[in-house]
Amino acid sequence: MEVKRIGVLTSGGDAPGMNAAVRAVVRYANRLGIEVMGIRRGYTGLINGDMYEMSTTDVMDYLRKGGTVLGTARCPEFKEEAGVQQAVRICQYRGLDGVVVIGGDGSYRGAADLSAHGVPCVGLPGTIDNDIASTDYTIGYDTALNTAMEMIDKLRDTSASHNRCSVVEVMGRHAGHIALNTSITCGGTYVIVPELEFSMDKLVEKILIAQNKGKSHNIVLVAEGIGDVDRLAKEIEERTGVESRATILGHVQRGGSPTQRDRLVASIMGFHAVELLSKGIGNRVVGLKNDKLVDYDIQEALQMKKELDMNLFEVAHCIAL
Ligand code: ADP
Ligand code: F6P
Repeated sequence: MEVKRIGVLTSGGDAPGMNAAVRAVVRYANRLGIEVMGIRRGYTGLINGDMYEMSTTDVMDYLRKGGTVLGTARCPEFKEEAGVQQAVRICQYRGLDGVVVIGGDGSYRGAADLSAHGVPCVGLPGTIDNDIASTDYTIGYDTALNTAMEMIDKLRDTSASHNRCSVVEVMGRHAGHIALNTSITCGGTYVIVPELEFSMDKLVEKILIAQNKGKSHNIVLVAEGIGDVDRLAKEIEERTGVESRATILGHVQRGGSPTQRDRLVASIMGFHAVELLSKGIGNRVVGLKNDKLVDYDIQEALQMKKELDMNLFEVAHCIAL
């Protein structure tokens, strides 16, 4: 079957680099003579037929743009059979021979459903959380790490000036990749992640040791979902005598112009998605494994498990004061 027109959508939480991936999809598809429809607001736009043709010149300047120009959404209707069937009808009506879905695990599940209903889909990993097992690296992760690092460097200035402990909550959904990596790059005294049991006694001990060695500030990195960081800061203060403050970095971590790495990975992955769809190959997700581009069957990818790198945990622990 000749592939004449494909769609592209961004879904779930936005991530820096999503626009760079869309740009690559549009540019390479157009080069192959394939039209691209940009679908607004993820599966919501697909179900409602909210899409427009995107040309090579439309995506000028997309590389450096943060967020997602196409918009994104969480679309509960798409989790129902009726929603998927509606999307299939729209794809048939608008002549879409395939769809590139840029998002996280949830979006991959939607792409698998759509593929099973005869619309070939290729998923690209777009999330700051880096929590997708079928890839070592997700689009947006590097920018989020750099943003968190910059913010915490600033916090450190004030924390050191007041001889305080800063308890900082970072994003990551159910995973500690951002927290662990940021702890290393920001000189965290301690890091709390959902993958490992947390000991308040050890945390207190670490802060007291650092204080005794003359450290003027302490940074404690906490992955979101662990609990109330204000309460944690209070408890640290009570048990160590070190004045403590909590900061939740929040959605600022999702914003900003993508870093070089995010732009590069997004561009390569976008290119590869078109390569697959242009050959009529769907139900695949693209990833990077050991710096090599790979693609997997979506169901196979969703069965994979991603572990936190315990070597990094050891590094964080051993090089903290
Ligand atoms: P992410 O893609 O970042 O993991 P979500 O989990 O919010 O984000 O998923 C994004 C969207 O993907 C959902 O709003 C929904 O439309 C679709 N989706 C999620 N889970 C499923 C599922 N099990 N089946 C079909 N579609 C799903
Ligand atoms: O998946 C990206 C992410 O930013 C997670 O880190 C976080 O748990 C979630 O999305 C926040 O979602 P929302 O934008 O709905 O608050």
